[in-house]
Amino acid sequence: MDLTDYADHFPTFFTGKSIKKKQTKKKLKKKSIHYSDIHDYEIFDPQNDNNSEIQDNNGNLTIYDKDDNKIIIRYADRLSLPQNCQKYWKQRYSIFSKFNDNIRLTSELWYSVTPEAIADYIASYIKQNYTFTTNTASPQKTSILDVFAGGGGNSIQFAYHFDKVIAIDINFANLYCLKQNSKVYQINEKIETIQKDWSQINDAYLLSLKKDYNINFIFASPPWGGPEYLNKDTFDLQNDLKPFSLTDLLSGFLKITKNIGLFLPRNSDLNQLNQITKDLFGENSNCFVAKISLRTRTKGYCCFWC
Ligand SMILES: C[S@@+](CC[C@H](N)C(=O)[O-])C[C@H]1O[C@@H](n2cnc3c(N)ncnc32)[C@H](O)[C@@H]1O
Repeated sequence: MDLTDYADHFPTFFTGKSIKKKQTKKKLKKKSIHYSDIHDYEIFDPQNDNNSEIQDNNGNLTIYDKDDNKIIIRYADRLSLPQNCQKYWKQRYSIFSKFNDNIRLTSELWYSVTPEAIADYIASYIKQNYTFTTNTASPQKTSILDVFAGGGGNSIQFAYHFDKVIAIDINFANLYCLKQNSKVYQINEKIETIQKDWSQINDAYLLSLKKDYNINFIFASPPWGGPEYLNKDTFDLQNDLKPFSLTDLLSGFLKITKNIGLFLPRNSDLNQLNQITKDLFGENSNCFVAKISLRTRTKGYCCFWC
Protein backbone atom coordinates (compact mmCIF):
# COMPACT_ATOMS: atom_id res chain seq x y z
CA MET A 1 0.00 0.00 0.00
CA ASP A 2 1.36 3.38 -0.97
CA LEU A 3 1.60 5.42 2.19
CA THR A 4 1.63 8.68 0.27
CA ASP A 5 -1.96 7.86 -0.61
CA TYR A 6 -3.16 9.63 2.46
CA ALA A 7 -0.16 11.87 3.05
CA ASP A 8 -2.20 15.00 2.64
CA HIS A 9 -3.90 14.67 5.97
CA PHE A 10 -3.56 17.96 7.76
CA PRO A 11 -4.00 19.08 11.31
CA THR A 12 -6.75 21.54 11.99
CA PHE A 13 -6.51 22.92 15.46
CA PHE A 14 -9.65 24.81 16.11
CA THR A 15 -8.30 26.51 19.17
CA GLY A 16 -4.64 26.59 18.26
CA LYS A 17 -3.70 24.19 21.03
CA SER A 18 -1.82 20.99 20.40
CA ILE A 19 -3.35 17.63 21.13
CA LYS A 20 -3.03 16.58 24.74
CA LYS A 21 -1.18 13.32 25.14
CA LYS A 22 -2.18 12.32 28.61
CA GLN A 23 -5.51 10.91 29.53
CA THR A 24 -6.81 12.60 32.63
CA LYS A 25 -8.36 10.10 34.95
CA LYS A 26 -11.75 11.43 35.80
CA LYS A 27 -13.89 9.91 38.47
CA LEU A 28 -17.32 8.90 37.27
CA LYS A 29 -20.28 10.40 39.01
CA LYS A 30 -22.22 7.31 39.94
CA LYS A 31 -24.61 9.03 42.32
CA SER A 32 -27.85 8.63 40.48
CA ILE A 33 -26.92 5.73 38.23
CA HIS A 34 -27.32 2.17 39.33
CA TYR A 35 -25.94 -0.73 37.44
CA SER A 36 -25.36 -4.31 38.23
CA ASP A 37 -21.86 -5.73 38.48
CA ILE A 38 -22.67 -8.52 36.10
CA HIS A 39 -23.98 -7.13 32.86
CA ASP A 40 -25.42 -9.16 30.04
CA TYR A 41 -23.37 -8.10 27.02
CA GLU A 42 -25.05 -10.44 24.56
CA ILE A 43 -21.66 -11.52 23.30
CA PHE A 44 -22.01 -12.51 19.69
CA ASP A 45 -21.02 -16.03 18.92
CA PRO A 46 -22.07 -17.22 15.48
CA GLN A 47 -23.35 -20.74 15.83
CA ASN A 48 -21.04 -23.38 14.49
CA ASP A 49 -18.94 -20.77 12.74
CA ASN A 50 -18.08 -21.90 9.23
CA ASN A 51 -20.47 -24.83 9.40
CA SER A 52 -23.46 -22.55 8.94
CA GLU A 53 -22.18 -21.19 5.63
CA ILE A 54 -23.85 -22.52 2.50
CA GLN A 55 -22.75 -22.01 -1.08
CA ASP A 56 -25.66 -21.13 -3.37
CA ASN A 57 -26.03 -22.16 -7.03
CA ASN A 58 -24.28 -18.97 -8.19
CA GLY A 59 -21.19 -19.62 -6.09
CA ASN A 60 -22.03 -17.02 -3.44
CA LEU A 61 -21.45 -17.90 0.21
CA THR A 62 -24.55 -17.41 2.37
CA ILE A 63 -25.72 -17.61 5.95
CA TYR A 64 -29.19 -17.51 7.49
CA ASP A 65 -30.11 -15.15 10.31
CA LYS A 66 -32.42 -16.13 13.15
CA ASP A 67 -35.49 -15.16 11.08
CA ASP A 68 -34.30 -17.50 8.33
CA ASN A 69 -33.35 -14.69 5.95
CA LYS A 70 -30.64 -15.72 3.53
CA ILE A 71 -27.73 -13.26 3.50
CA ILE A 72 -24.85 -13.33 1.07
CA ILE A 73 -21.56 -12.89 2.91
CA ARG A 74 -19.19 -13.55 0.02
CA TYR A 75 -20.10 -12.70 -3.55
CA ALA A 76 -18.65 -14.97 -6.22
CA ASP A 77 -17.58 -12.15 -8.53
CA ARG A 78 -18.27 -8.55 -9.54
CA LEU A 79 -21.44 -9.30 -11.48
CA SER A 80 -22.95 -11.18 -8.55
CA LEU A 81 -22.86 -8.00 -6.48
CA PRO A 82 -25.90 -5.70 -6.39
CA GLN A 83 -25.50 -3.14 -9.16
CA ASN A 84 -24.82 -0.22 -6.83
CA CYS A 85 -21.87 -2.12 -5.31
CA GLN A 86 -20.21 -3.37 -8.50
CA LYS A 87 -17.99 -0.29 -8.78
CA TYR A 88 -16.31 -1.29 -5.50
CA TRP A 89 -15.14 -4.67 -6.82
CA LYS A 90 -11.90 -3.23 -8.19
CA GLN A 91 -11.16 -1.78 -4.75
CA ARG A 92 -11.37 -5.18 -3.05
CA TYR A 93 -7.68 -5.42 -2.20
CA SER A 94 -7.61 -1.92 -0.81
CA ILE A 95 -10.60 -2.78 1.38
CA PHE A 96 -8.86 -5.91 2.65
CA SER A 97 -5.41 -6.80 1.32
CA LYS A 98 -6.17 -10.43 2.21
CA PHE A 99 -9.39 -10.39 0.22
CA ASN A 100 -8.49 -13.63 -1.54
CA ASP A 101 -8.12 -15.46 1.78
CA ASN A 102 -11.90 -15.78 2.02
CA ILE A 103 -12.84 -12.33 3.30
CA ARG A 104 -16.59 -12.02 3.85
CA LEU A 105 -18.53 -8.85 2.96
CA THR A 106 -22.28 -8.30 2.96
CA SER A 107 -23.59 -5.92 0.28
CA GLU A 108 -23.67 -3.10 2.87
CA LEU A 109 -20.07 -3.76 3.83
CA TRP A 110 -18.88 -3.42 0.24
CA TYR A 111 -19.43 0.34 0.45
CA SER A 112 -18.97 0.91 4.16
CA VAL A 113 -15.86 -0.92 5.38
CA THR A 114 -12.96 1.41 6.18
CA PRO A 115 -10.21 0.56 3.65
CA GLU A 116 -7.24 -1.17 5.24
CA ALA A 117 -4.69 1.66 4.74
CA ILE A 118 -7.03 4.19 6.35
CA ALA A 119 -7.86 1.86 9.24
CA ASP A 120 -4.13 1.28 9.74
CA TYR A 121 -3.53 5.06 9.77
CA ILE A 122 -6.27 5.58 12.36
CA ALA A 123 -5.03 2.79 14.64
CA SER A 124 -1.40 3.94 14.36
CA TYR A 125 -2.35 7.58 14.98
CA ILE A 126 -4.15 6.67 18.19
CA LYS A 127 -1.29 4.48 19.34
CA GLN A 128 1.30 7.20 18.70
CA ASN A 129 -0.58 10.20 20.05
CA TYR A 130 -2.37 8.99 23.14
CA THR A 131 -0.97 7.71 26.40
CA PHE A 132 -3.39 5.65 28.37
CA THR A 133 -3.61 5.28 32.08
CA THR A 134 -4.25 1.64 32.76
CA ASN A 135 -6.24 -0.24 35.28
CA THR A 136 -4.27 -1.21 38.38
CA ALA A 137 -5.91 -4.63 38.25
CA SER A 138 -4.58 -5.23 34.74
CA PRO A 139 -1.83 -2.61 34.32
CA GLN A 140 -0.61 -3.54 30.89
CA LYS A 141 -4.00 -3.97 29.24
CA THR A 142 -5.44 -1.39 26.88
CA SER A 143 -8.83 -1.63 25.26
CA ILE A 144 -10.74 0.19 22.56
CA LEU A 145 -14.45 0.27 21.81
CA ASP A 146 -15.35 0.20 18.10
CA VAL A 147 -18.98 1.23 18.12
CA PHE A 148 -20.20 0.65 14.56
CA ALA A 149 -17.77 -2.13 13.88
CA GLY A 150 -19.22 -3.43 10.58
CA GLY A 151 -17.02 -5.99 8.84
CA GLY A 152 -13.96 -5.28 10.98
CA GLY A 153 -12.00 -2.88 8.79
CA ASN A 154 -11.14 -0.80 11.86
CA SER A 155 -11.42 -3.46 14.57
CA ILE A 156 -8.81 -5.67 12.91
CA GLN A 157 -6.26 -2.85 12.75
CA PHE A 158 -7.03 -1.83 16.34
CA ALA A 159 -6.32 -5.40 17.43
CA TYR A 160 -2.71 -4.98 16.31
CA HIS A 161 -2.27 -2.10 18.76
CA PHE A 162 -4.64 -2.77 21.66
CA ASP A 163 -4.86 -5.72 24.01
CA LYS A 164 -8.62 -5.86 23.59
CA VAL A 165 -11.12 -4.60 21.01
CA ILE A 166 -14.82 -4.53 21.85
CA ALA A 167 -16.69 -4.44 18.56
CA ILE A 168 -20.36 -3.44 18.66
CA ASP A 169 -22.75 -3.59 15.72
CA ILE A 170 -26.49 -3.98 15.30
CA ASN A 171 -26.22 -6.21 12.26
CA PHE A 172 -25.85 -9.97 12.70
CA ALA A 173 -24.40 -10.65 9.26
CA ASN A 174 -21.89 -7.79 9.44
CA LEU A 175 -20.66 -9.05 12.80
CA TYR A 176 -20.46 -12.55 11.42
CA CYS A 177 -18.22 -11.20 8.63
CA LEU A 178 -16.12 -9.33 11.21
CA LYS A 179 -15.54 -12.54 13.15
CA GLN A 180 -14.49 -14.45 10.07
CA ASN A 181 -12.36 -11.59 8.71
CA SER A 182 -10.49 -11.25 11.98
CA LYS A 183 -9.68 -14.96 11.71
CA VAL A 184 -8.23 -14.36 8.26
CA TYR A 185 -5.91 -11.79 9.88
CA GLN A 186 -5.28 -14.22 12.78
CA ILE A 187 -6.21 -11.55 15.30
CA ASN A 188 -9.67 -12.83 16.31
CA GLU A 189 -8.63 -13.72 19.87
CA LYS A 190 -8.31 -10.04 20.70
CA ILE A 191 -11.74 -9.00 19.42
CA GLU A 192 -14.95 -9.43 21.38
CA THR A 193 -18.11 -8.81 19.37
CA ILE A 194 -21.38 -7.58 20.82
CA GLN A 195 -24.56 -7.45 18.78
CA LYS A 196 -26.35 -4.38 20.02
CA ASP A 197 -28.34 -1.40 18.77
CA TRP A 198 -26.45 1.69 19.92
CA SER A 199 -29.73 3.59 20.30
CA GLN A 200 -30.77 1.05 22.95
CA ILE A 201 -27.66 1.60 25.03
CA ASN A 202 -28.40 3.45 28.24
CA ASP A 203 -26.20 5.05 30.88
CA ALA A 204 -26.09 1.90 32.97
CA TYR A 205 -24.83 -0.09 30.00
CA LEU A 206 -22.20 2.54 29.18
CA LEU A 207 -20.92 2.55 32.73
CA SER A 208 -20.77 -1.22 32.80
CA LEU A 209 -18.78 -1.23 29.58
CA LYS A 210 -16.38 1.31 31.03
CA LYS A 211 -15.99 -0.59 34.26
CA ASP A 212 -15.76 -4.12 32.88
CA TYR A 213 -13.49 -3.39 29.94
CA ASN A 214 -11.45 -0.42 31.19
CA ILE A 215 -12.01 1.32 27.85
CA ASN A 216 -9.20 3.71 26.91
CA PHE A 217 -10.54 4.92 23.58
CA ILE A 218 -13.80 4.97 21.63
CA PHE A 219 -13.80 4.96 17.87
CA ALA A 220 -16.80 5.14 15.58
CA SER A 221 -17.31 5.11 11.87
CA PRO A 222 -21.04 5.83 12.11
CA PRO A 223 -23.59 5.35 9.33
CA TRP A 224 -23.62 8.45 7.11
CA GLY A 225 -27.20 7.89 5.95
CA GLY A 226 -26.25 5.95 2.79
CA PRO A 227 -24.35 7.03 -0.35
CA GLU A 228 -26.69 10.04 -0.74
CA TYR A 229 -24.46 11.91 1.69
CA LEU A 230 -22.47 13.10 -1.32
CA ASN A 231 -25.45 14.81 -2.90
CA LYS A 232 -25.07 17.68 -0.48
CA ASP A 233 -22.45 20.43 -0.72
CA THR A 234 -22.20 20.55 3.05
CA PHE A 235 -23.04 17.66 5.30
CA ASP A 236 -24.91 18.83 8.39
CA LEU A 237 -23.47 16.90 11.33
CA GLN A 238 -26.61 17.34 13.38
CA ASN A 239 -29.36 16.69 10.86
CA ASP A 240 -27.77 14.64 8.08
CA LEU A 241 -25.78 12.24 10.26
CA LYS A 242 -28.48 9.60 10.79
CA PRO A 243 -29.70 8.08 12.95
CA PHE A 244 -27.18 9.56 15.41
CA SER A 245 -26.25 13.24 15.29
CA LEU A 246 -22.72 14.29 16.19
CA THR A 247 -23.98 15.57 19.55
CA ASP A 248 -25.79 12.27 20.24
CA LEU A 249 -22.65 10.29 19.52
CA LEU A 250 -20.17 12.44 21.41
CA SER A 251 -22.31 12.95 24.49
CA GLY A 252 -22.82 9.18 24.79
CA PHE A 253 -19.13 8.45 24.31
CA LEU A 254 -18.12 11.12 26.83
CA LYS A 255 -19.82 9.08 29.52
CA ILE A 256 -17.00 6.58 29.05
CA THR A 257 -13.96 8.61 27.97
CA LYS A 258 -12.80 11.84 26.34
CA ASN A 259 -10.47 9.89 24.07
CA ILE A 260 -12.68 9.69 21.02
CA GLY A 261 -12.15 9.24 17.30
CA LEU A 262 -14.76 9.57 14.55
CA PHE A 263 -14.67 9.00 10.82
CA LEU A 264 -16.90 11.61 9.19
CA PRO A 265 -17.93 12.50 5.62
CA ARG A 266 -15.58 14.57 3.49
CA ASN A 267 -18.20 17.30 3.06
CA SER A 268 -18.78 17.65 6.82
CA ASP A 269 -19.47 21.14 8.13
CA LEU A 270 -16.23 21.90 9.99
CA ASN A 271 -17.62 25.06 11.59
CA GLN A 272 -20.30 22.91 13.14
CA LEU A 273 -17.64 20.45 14.29
CA ASN A 274 -15.78 23.34 15.91
CA GLN A 275 -18.90 24.59 17.70
CA ILE A 276 -19.99 21.15 18.93
CA THR A 277 -16.44 20.49 20.17
CA LYS A 278 -16.56 23.71 22.21
CA ASP A 279 -20.06 22.96 23.49
CA LEU A 280 -19.25 19.46 24.68
CA PHE A 281 -15.55 19.56 25.54
CA GLY A 282 -15.25 23.16 26.71
CA GLU A 283 -14.28 26.50 25.19
CA ASN A 284 -10.54 25.73 25.19
CA SER A 285 -10.83 22.21 23.89
CA ASN A 286 -9.63 21.15 20.50
CA CYS A 287 -10.14 18.51 17.91
CA PHE A 288 -7.48 17.21 15.55
CA VAL A 289 -8.93 16.76 12.08
CA ALA A 290 -7.16 14.72 9.45
CA LYS A 291 -8.38 14.84 5.86
CA ILE A 292 -7.99 11.32 4.60
CA SER A 293 -7.33 10.63 0.94
CA LEU A 294 -6.71 7.39 -0.82
CA ARG A 295 -5.20 7.54 -4.29
CA THR A 296 -5.94 11.29 -4.53
CA ARG A 297 -9.62 10.77 -3.65
CA THR A 298 -10.68 12.31 -0.38
CA LYS A 299 -12.50 9.68 1.64
CA GLY A 300 -13.45 11.60 4.77
CA TYR A 301 -12.28 13.35 7.90
CA CYS A 302 -10.82 11.57 10.89
CA CYS A 303 -11.49 13.59 14.01
CA PHE A 304 -9.72 12.97 17.29
CA TRP A 305 -10.59 14.44 20.68
CA CYS A 306 -8.95 14.03 24.05
C1 LIG B 1 -19.83 2.61 8.15
S1 LIG B 1 -20.23 1.02 8.74
C2 LIG B 1 -18.87 0.67 9.77
C3 LIG B 1 -17.72 0.05 9.05
C4 LIG B 1 -16.61 -0.46 9.94
N1 LIG B 1 -15.89 0.61 10.58
C5 LIG B 1 -15.66 -1.32 9.12
O1 LIG B 1 -14.56 -0.87 8.82
O2 LIG B 1 -16.04 -2.43 8.76
C6 LIG B 1 -21.52 1.34 9.87
C7 LIG B 1 -22.02 0.15 10.67
O3 LIG B 1 -22.93 0.65 11.64
C8 LIG B 1 -23.85 -0.36 11.92
N2 LIG B 1 -25.02 0.25 12.59
C9 LIG B 1 -26.00 0.98 12.00
N3 LIG B 1 -26.89 1.38 12.92
C10 LIG B 1 -26.46 0.88 14.11
C11 LIG B 1 -26.97 0.93 15.44
N4 LIG B 1 -28.12 1.56 15.71
N5 LIG B 1 -26.27 0.34 16.43
C12 LIG B 1 -25.12 -0.32 16.15
N6 LIG B 1 -24.61 -0.44 14.90
C13 LIG B 1 -25.27 0.16 13.90
C14 LIG B 1 -24.15 -0.99 10.57
O4 LIG B 1 -24.64 -2.30 10.72
C15 LIG B 1 -22.77 -0.91 9.90
O5 LIG B 1 -22.11 -2.15 10.02
